[in-house]
Amino acid sequence: MSNFKEIYAERVKELENHLDNLMNEKVKYHQTIIDAMKYSLLNGGKRIRAMLVMGFFECGGKDYKDALNTACALEMIHAYSLIHDDLPCMDNDDYRRGKLTSHKVFGEGMAVLAGDGLLTAAFQLFSENRDNFPAETLVKGLNCLAKEAGYNGMIGGQVIDIENENKQISKDMLYTLHSLKTGALIKCACKLGVIMAGGDEKMMKSAEEYGENIGLAFQIQDDILDVEGDVESLGKSVGSDAENGKTTFVTLFGLEKSKEMVDECFKKAYKNLEETDGNKEFLIGLTEFLKNRTY
Ligand code: IPE
Ligand code: IPE
Ligand code: MG
Ligand code: MG
Ligand code: MG
Repeated sequence: MSNFKEIYAERVKELENHLDNLMNEKVKYHQTIIDAMKYSLLNGGKRIRAMLVMGFFECGGKDYKDALNTACALEMIHAYSLIHDDLPCMDNDDYRRGKLTSHKVFGEGMAVLAGDGLLTAAFQLFSENRDNFPAETLVKGLNCLAKEAGYNGMIGGQVIDIENENKQISKDMLYTLHSLKTGALIKCACKLGVIMAGGDEKMMKSAEEYGENIGLAFQIQDDILDVEGDVESLGKSVGSDAENGKTTFVTLFGLEKSKEMVDECFKKAYKNLEETDGNKEFLIGLTEFLKNRTY
């Protein structure tokens, strides 16, 4: 896809317009929560989880526009995870997507609630999506989302992350940590695309493996960027991992080896795509974009 960048930009714009419309509510006494949710949901971001949903949905022979609500639900969960991740009781970070973090603007209590609000709004949106999907598909999708975002998925990873600050952890535990805290939601995006499109088992297997490979690569890259990245383009603080005493791929394997591991994951991911049938042009472009990302 030679014009991947334009298509990606167009899809991000559509997604963000949709999110904006969803968050348009005005209420009498608790407007602050809506403002806080919007602040963290509509402040940029690469939107890669949404793009993965659309990409696999398209691969399953559908029009990506019909996956907009599903993609928005996933972005809501992602935004909530970032608000909570940045809290003083977690990573204590002041900047996210080039702006002050939620708790810096709205206070800690409101930031916790904005995260809770986005998490629950995601499930509300998903379950109200019945115009386009049969109830059985919705339940399957909801189950996938709950599992991957939950205590045996993303939350489990965040638990390993905070319980092991300033401790030496094994390679095996580090792989699990990354596969859960970041990999689970990325894998979920790929799986949701397939579920909502009604894809078969073969497609689900490739999507799952692809999600695992780019999910792991994504967090290794994040670890590398925390050391080598540039604050301006990243929009978040660098050096946060060292400050918080985190074991990362960089601390355990070093920069060179970590970069080799990223390449290895992407090689596997391309292979997974080769094994996937359907229109995968956008996914190939997205994989290339992810492989070369500097933010
Ligand atoms: C940041 O995710 C947190 C991680 C899981 C590493 P992204 O890098 O996708 O953040 P945005 O959405 O583009 O800001
Ligand atoms: C984030 O991992 C994982 C989740 C938000 C679930 P990090 O803590 O490394 O992400 P950044 O670097 O703050 O974006
Ligand atoms: Mg963290
Ligand atoms: Mg963090
Ligand atoms: Mg990080």
